[in-house]
Amino acid sequence: MTSAPTHAKGLEGVIAGETEICNVEQTSLIYRGYEIADLAANATFEEVAYLLLVGSKPNADELAKFKADLVAERSLPAPVVEFLKTSGDLVNNQSAVPMDILRTAVSIQAHVDPDCQDNAPEANLRKAKRLLAKIPTIIGHMQNSIEGKDFVAPRDDLSHSANLLYMMTGSEPTPEAEKVMDVSLVLYAEHDYNASTFTSRVITGTLADMHGGVTGAIAALKGKLHGGANEAAMDMLSDIRNDIGPENDTAKITEWMHKAFAEKRKLMGFGHRVYKNGDHRAPILHALGRKAAEARGEEFVKLFDLGETVQKIMEDEKTIYPNVDFPCGMTYFTMGIPVPQYTPIFVASRITGWAAHIMEQHANNRLIRPRVAYTGPALRNWND
Ligand code: CMC
Repeated sequence: MTSAPTHAKGLEGVIAGETEICNVEQTSLIYRGYEIADLAANATFEEVAYLLLVGSKPNADELAKFKADLVAERSLPAPVVEFLKTSGDLVNNQSAVPMDILRTAVSIQAHVDPDCQDNAPEANLRKAKRLLAKIPTIIGHMQNSIEGKDFVAPRDDLSHSANLLYMMTGSEPTPEAEKVMDVSLVLYAEHDYNASTFTSRVITGTLADMHGGVTGAIAALKGKLHGGANEAAMDMLSDIRNDIGPENDTAKITEWMHKAFAEKRKLMGFGHRVYKNGDHRAPILHALGRKAAEARGEEFVKLFDLGETVQKIMEDEKTIYPNVDFPCGMTYFTMGIPVPQYTPIFVASRITGWAAHIMEQHANNRLIRPRVAYTGPALRNWND
């Protein structure tokens, strides 16, 4: 190497690029200039999707056109539908999990997208809108197949969030459930150079296409240290419940956690590479989820009580705070969503951030090709 590189394990603290899309700081999370609490309180998911993909807040006409474009793209092409008919068997016989099915469905969608090989800005925006519109239908049809039911067709008159819930269950959600889902999608939409977004930029920095970047991003999001944490957090709370019994006995919860600490286990839904004093998204989703739990009844309130005790012990003893995936697990459970669909729903939101980054990468591309510090054997001869 000619000059000393900046490097750190896991690229911690390394500035690996530039973006106009999002800024993640200890004290704030900003999408294109708007603070996350402002967006969660005042914007719908479709408005946030437009903001991320197009770059500005939509006016009424722009929003109406954007929503109509999404509605028009909700149904799936035949090859994707045919694949999804097999998805229930694949999941039910445990040879695949929903994130694998979603990854493959997006990859098949590439084969039939007329713009697949075109990386021009207009083609990329068309592809982004198609993926945004179709991913909820993929998730819905997959869930129908898992349950051995006929596919529920998308509805033209429902929002992105309501339609997602409708296709998964066959019933129109209450306005309260739609709102909770919508805010969760706003919170999940974008987060600068997280692992999956960085993956999508590395892939598309070779001038590969958007579907390739998104397929790789889904693969990266699946892991428990990233998006898979929302499922893992709920699984952990279920494990605690199984071990301690039906009541929230603080002594038993503390004992469970001390055992986990002694075994040096990572508690899912806690900690963050950037936020060391707490994730700004977590309290927003926690408050909404807790309200939904109070409306649903005692079992769900007890889940949130358990989560709050776990959170307090983590904060008091480790000074480690929940990330957004911790309240997400409890919230989606309260909404009756099957646990293996939590991370696919994350995809139904983060597709906006990924697509925005892919478009930014293609618009001002330079191949992403860092160096690595070699730690292998010194030079040696094959014939020695
Ligand atoms: N449980 C227990 N200890 C933890 C946790 C945790 N969840 N997170 C961090 N620590 C400890 C860690 O063991 C280390 O302690 P020590 O210095 O004694 O070795 C210290 O805190 C620093 O942690 P780190 O592993 O160096 O932090 P990192 O920046 O490499 O990892 C993380 C960040 C998110 C991968 C990690 O906190 C983790 O594994 N959390 C659990 C999985 C999770 O919730 N992931 C979701 C991330 S955010 C949203 C998303 O992407 O979906």
